[in-house]
Amino acid sequence: MTRIAILISGGGSNMAALLRHMKTRGYAEPVLVASNRPAAKGLALANAAGVETAAIDHTAFNGDREAFEAVLTKTLRSIEPDFICLAGFMRVLTASFVEAWPNQILNIHPSLLPKYKGLNTHARAIDAGDSHAGCTVHRVTSNLDDGPILGQAQVPVNPDDTPQTLAARILPMEHQLYPAVLERVVSGENAPLFLSLDKNTPMKAGR
Ligand code: GRF
Repeated sequence: MTRIAILISGGGSNMAALLRHMKTRGYAEPVLVASNRPAAKGLALANAAGVETAAIDHTAFNGDREAFEAVLTKTLRSIEPDFICLAGFMRVLTASFVEAWPNQILNIHPSLLPKYKGLNTHARAIDAGDSHAGCTVHRVTSNLDDGPILGQAQVPVNPDDTPQTLAARILPMEHQLYPAVLERVVSGENAPLFLSLDKNTPMKAGR
């Protein structure tokens, strides 16, 4: 059975969606949920779901990224996952970490990449006057929020949207997209999946 590790930093709603989907559809097994924040709500959710958890507090490493990653690597190597899903994991990973898991790390990012890499994606989409916003699942490479796109989901941006209302419309799409993409990737399907909340504007490949 394909083994999945999930890295989180916060609420873990994407992680919970991944756990639910794997359990329902049975294509993979969640073997570890790890967080760089010991207080992350998602750790309690994972525990309650019976999944092994680990907390590796990055603040204990005083900014030494390699030292933090050495512990993370040791934890992951003891579990040997086939894929590592970043789900709201708010640490930048070094090139040597990413290269140690070639094609095995996936990430979800709350924008229609390649637009709006980095933070504050919803505010940036609204400020730019974009008609649509959304989220992307991609393979992780050593460049931030880069790497081959495996799936995107879009939603319309409404004239009165705030970053919060837009985030609230996109998050449920993240919960649909990420598990669906993971199942495809586990089955060896690399062609991107496109979902749209706006039936009048279907997404096109390669946007
Ligand atoms: C999601 O919007 C994810 O795309 C972003 O941070 C949020 C995490 O939410 N990077 P959760 O922890 O999965 O609930």
